Amino acid sequence: MTNNNIYFIANWKMFGSTKSVNSLNKVISYSKIKKLKAKIIYCPPYTLIKSFVNKTKNSNIEIGAQDCHVQPKYGPFTGAISSKMIKDLGGKFVIIGHSETRLENDNKKINSKIKSALDEKLNVILCIGEKLIDKKKNKTKFVLRKQLLQGLKNLKNLSKVIIAYEPVWSIGTGIIPTENDLKKNIRFIRNTLKISKKFTKSKILYGGSVNPKNIKNLMRIDNIDGFLIGGASTNEKIFIDIMKKSIN
Ligand code: PGA
Repeated sequence: MTNNNIYFIANWKMFGSTKSVNSLNKVISYSKIKKLKAKIIYCPPYTLIKSFVNKTKNSNIEIGAQDCHVQPKYGPFTGAISSKMIKDLGGKFVIIGHSETRLENDNKKINSKIKSALDEKLNVILCIGEKLIDKKKNKTKFVLRKQLLQGLKNLKNLSKVIIAYEPVWSIGTGIIPTENDLKKNIRFIRNTLKISKKFTKSKILYGGSVNPKNIKNLMRIDNIDGFLIGGASTNEKIFIDIMKKSIN
């Protein structure tokens, strides 16, 4: 795969403090090198969205959130953040359906959240992926299909939806799928979108233990459009190393 417009999305989860904004300096400089035609997106916790937006103003790095409420605008929902609020902060993306949030979110709720984000013209990163038990029972395709079809139900314009395939057993474990399995599952996701007449040009990313050691092998898989990176993205040197190794 070429590195043209490859996505590198940093999912910071519940990490970072007000000082973390300084850790963007090197990535901002790196993002300006000509050879790198990557799209770099940071999804910090809500508390850091505004400072990350300000910091990256004169760069081509974009900022997103890690979740949103089902209601797009305002309402009496203690502790919740809506798509409108994310947009108001300057966020352009939102991760929806990450496995770490799926305990409180079934596919129906995920579908409503995607709707709310699209109403506010945010780009959505929809995470799907099987658990280890599903894989062992040969249910991966069944799970992926269900998460895709129910998550995207009745949504028409999907040009702003990116799919991130993240096998749950790969997240934070250092274990990634075999090249063959990854190819097969990404192809299955693409075909499922096609058959169900969803947006067929959707970008499909891989996420789960992406690091500087495995990026070269992952880049060999030509039907992946980029990566959703957790742990390794919170360290700027490692994050840059991943991007460097994706071109060399
Ligand atoms: P990881 O997380 O890179 O730390 O495995 C990926 C994710 O949860 O999006």
